Amino acid sequence: MKPREIIPGVLAVGAQDFDRRLFDALIPLPDGTSYNAYLVRGRDKTALIDAVEPAMLHVLRDCLKDVPRVDYVVSNHTEQDHSGGLPWVLERYPEAVLLSSEPAKPMLADHLGLDPARIRTVADGERLELGGKAFRFIYTPWVHWPETMSTYLEEDRILFSCDWFGSHMAQTDLFVDGVDCILAEAKRYYAEIMMPFRKIVQKNLDKIKDLDIRLIAPSHGPIHRDPASIIRAYRDWTDDKPHNSVVIPWVTMHGSTAVLVERLIDALSSRGVTVFPFNMATADIGKLAMSLVDAATLVAAAPTVHVGPHPMVLNAVVLANALRPKVRFASIVGSYGWAGKMADTLKAAMPNLKVEVLPAVICKGLPKPSDLEAIDKLADAIAAKHREAGLF
Ligand code: FEO
Repeated sequence: MKPREIIPGVLAVGAQDFDRRLFDALIPLPDGTSYNAYLVRGRDKTALIDAVEPAMLHVLRDCLKDVPRVDYVVSNHTEQDHSGGLPWVLERYPEAVLLSSEPAKPMLADHLGLDPARIRTVADGERLELGGKAFRFIYTPWVHWPETMSTYLEEDRILFSCDWFGSHMAQTDLFVDGVDCILAEAKRYYAEIMMPFRKIVQKNLDKIKDLDIRLIAPSHGPIHRDPASIIRAYRDWTDDKPHNSVVIPWVTMHGSTAVLVERLIDALSSRGVTVFPFNMATADIGKLAMSLVDAATLVAAAPTVHVGPHPMVLNAVVLANALRPKVRFASIVGSYGWAGKMADTLKAAMPNLKVEVLPAVICKGLPKPSDLEAIDKLADAIAAKHREAGLF
């Protein structure tokens, strides 16, 4: 797309990637994504904020073709979807100084082979005058790499936040106006990459709480005109108290585990507990991650393959362990044919989860009435734990 004016002197010069369907060879992108970059023109100096994914560099090149001079290039985040175009930018504008946080400087050299002599680090809170417009750089680490920072444009009260407050969405409109699903999209993105750093995200939210913000311009997805709404959502997602919900990643091979899962869904639901089941044979792991943002309990449900859990469920547990949601309770449900260590393997795969593990329900072959009773007892135990925790 061509450069588009956000406000006078601030242009969107990034790329919309409508066709991309996978990020990091892991994260589904049902709505594509964008690699936003911004050009800020002061009276004296011009600055570019972030570059784009290398595959979309042609869009940035086209947007900058009539921009003869760039004095500063701000790298808010080193990951290549925002920094991949920097080598070209620095070659195109030999006068430009690349500005980054202190931790980012070696990372820019490592990941992109940039000459450290072109990079000037900025301190947390440092100001930079462009003439009639000034940046303030705010270190916001771990959203989601250690070096990440945000850039605040003081006069126009725009926070260029890079990944946080962003969403993987491609669209032609600049702003979130009319995008009903924006909080769901942003939650998905938070869940996928920022949830492991929830406590630090809370600190970053505290750090910007007194900023007078008119617009939040992230580096993925549309620009927020109502900063309070997305900030409030981040407060909720990072809050220590989970919701009264259970996430069940499950798979069945010959139907036994499915019977247990169906019983557990009904039993929990009838006890007032919300359930989010995910058949891992077909599930969107982004939606699984979203449900884990608020869940109080994780129940992994798997049949036994040889001696271990079905790999699709083990994969879901490994993912949950990596994402470190605020779950407080966990259990295992499943089936086996003759023997196995399915439950032990799944429990061992969640060391990062600070959970109380409730008794597992494992059946041999088809579930028997006693197995279904055990499922009901597990539902009783989960509901009681949620009630004790004040979740309902
Ligand atoms: Fe959008 Fe962490 O890069």
